[in-house]
Amino acid sequence: MERSELSGLSAEEFFRRGEGYGYDNFTTLDTFKTEINNEDIFLKTDLGKGVILYLPIIGSPMDSVVNARVAIVLALHGGIAVIHYNHKKSNNEQDIDAQIAEIDRVKRYQSGFIEKPITVSPEMNIAQVLALAEGYLEQGMSITNFPVTENGKSNGKLLGLLRRQDYFRGSRVESKVSERMLPLRELKVATEPVNLEQAVDIIWNQRLNALPIVNNSGNLVYLVTRSDIEKRERYPLATLDSNNRLRVLFAVNTRPNESYERLERGFAAGADGVVVDVSQGYDKHEEAMLKYIVKKYPEKLLIGGNISTKEAAAFLAGLGGVDAYRNGQGPGSSCLTEKVIGASRAAATGVYDCAKALRGSSLKTIADGSLAWTGSIFKALSLGAHACMLGNMLAATEEGPGEIKFNKYGDPVKDYWGMGSERAGVGARRNYSRMPEGGEKQVPFKGSLHTYLPKIKSALIHAFEVKNMRSIEELHEATYSNKLRFERFMGTPNGSLAEL
Ligand code: XMP
Repeated sequence: MERSELSGLSAEEFFRRGEGYGYDNFTTLDTFKTEINNEDIFLKTDLGKGVILYLPIIGSPMDSVVNARVAIVLALHGGIAVIHYNHKKSNNEQDIDAQIAEIDRVKRYQSGFIEKPITVSPEMNIAQVLALAEGYLEQGMSITNFPVTENGKSNGKLLGLLRRQDYFRGSRVESKVSERMLPLRELKVATEPVNLEQAVDIIWNQRLNALPIVNNSGNLVYLVTRSDIEKRERYPLATLDSNNRLRVLFAVNTRPNESYERLERGFAAGADGVVVDVSQGYDKHEEAMLKYIVKKYPEKLLIGGNISTKEAAAFLAGLGGVDAYRNGQGPGSSCLTEKVIGASRAAATGVYDCAKALRGSSLKTIADGSLAWTGSIFKALSLGAHACMLGNMLAATEEGPGEIKFNKYGDPVKDYWGMGSERAGVGARRNYSRMPEGGEKQVPFKGSLHTYLPKIKSALIHAFEVKNMRSIEELHEATYSNKLRFERFMGTPNGSLAEL
């Protein structure tokens, strides 16, 4: 078929009209016959400096979205998260220590080591232990082995281990833990430092179900369980550094005094890269900070932004040493930028325009803002993005910040707010006040990222399968060679769901 006879328009034809399109304003057409299978598809993306993601998803540096737990689960599933810089002390001053502690938590997590195991005290009876375990069962955690510590806390002095074979679930539940546990003198424990491979060997050789790891004072530090070792095999595509630790990024702003300290301490804690987190990144302060980082930390992944025009993209590419940038000004679901300063860009147009201009350069495009559906993520990738940064879509998870509340319909929700909102209060903590450029809302509770991320991935794999594309590179190639076809969506883009 001649190209002119293909359905729809090429990206070039579609986006050259001078109109700004969001992801809901257009679709990609089913013009490719599927010949491949799911197993042929890899969503691998290389952000630079060795940071390779097998799920092209990045958690946005927002205090309502990302914490260490979110960063850990994202990295286990092949994505990565950025630890924000908006931690507060009780007197509301900024707390650099807290940001560094979050980075530290991610880097110390080793798949297989349970950092704060569920522990019990010797005075408890079996009924109380079972009630405790029941609570975790609701969260999808089936716990059967309980380290027993003097004070019942996860870092207390280890006294023994209550194993599955030490109790019945129905009868004799009034027995005391101290009577039924395997006492310390008969228990196989390991003393720090122990790496995971050594722990696995001990579990294998001694045919254990669980191995407590203690420090020199006999206090519990970790628990390694047989089931966790098996679970580790579930995350073969985790985002790992060369020491097999999970990767994590962190954010700084462009204020030298504060950011230089964050940079030094964040990298000392093992962070893999940094995001210079500025809403208008085509700017002299951004330039100075990026140049400083390129010079001082040349081996670390460096992400600039936010920008949305090819002029600004050329500026970032021209600096040299910047690996990737965030593309999105104003479209984020918590953004008020367009309303407050009247300068923004529709997300899809911004991504296409910049990514196309950067084709052939090493600067990678991260689509950022208004990615509310997996279909939007696929569309952003198809327009030239190498990865997608999510706020709203990753907010309100079990692992994430904030309490679960119930809205007026009784549905579970969590609060979500922009980093430029009054609630985030970034400016107030630096003694300046300005019109908030971010809003606040509630988003439906999504449950655990452990179940949500595989769903996101499966939707993306399906999208690639329908287009007969094995990789993000193939998708980009199809767009730039005009083979991927686009069409404007008039009416209701989300079909019947929009009527709900
Ligand atoms: P989504 O749509 O995923 O967007 O919630 C997340 C992105 O929104 C940006 N962001 C803001 N933009 N005012 C803004 O104009 C804000 O207060 C704000 N907070 C976050 C940011 O790029 C984020 O990744």
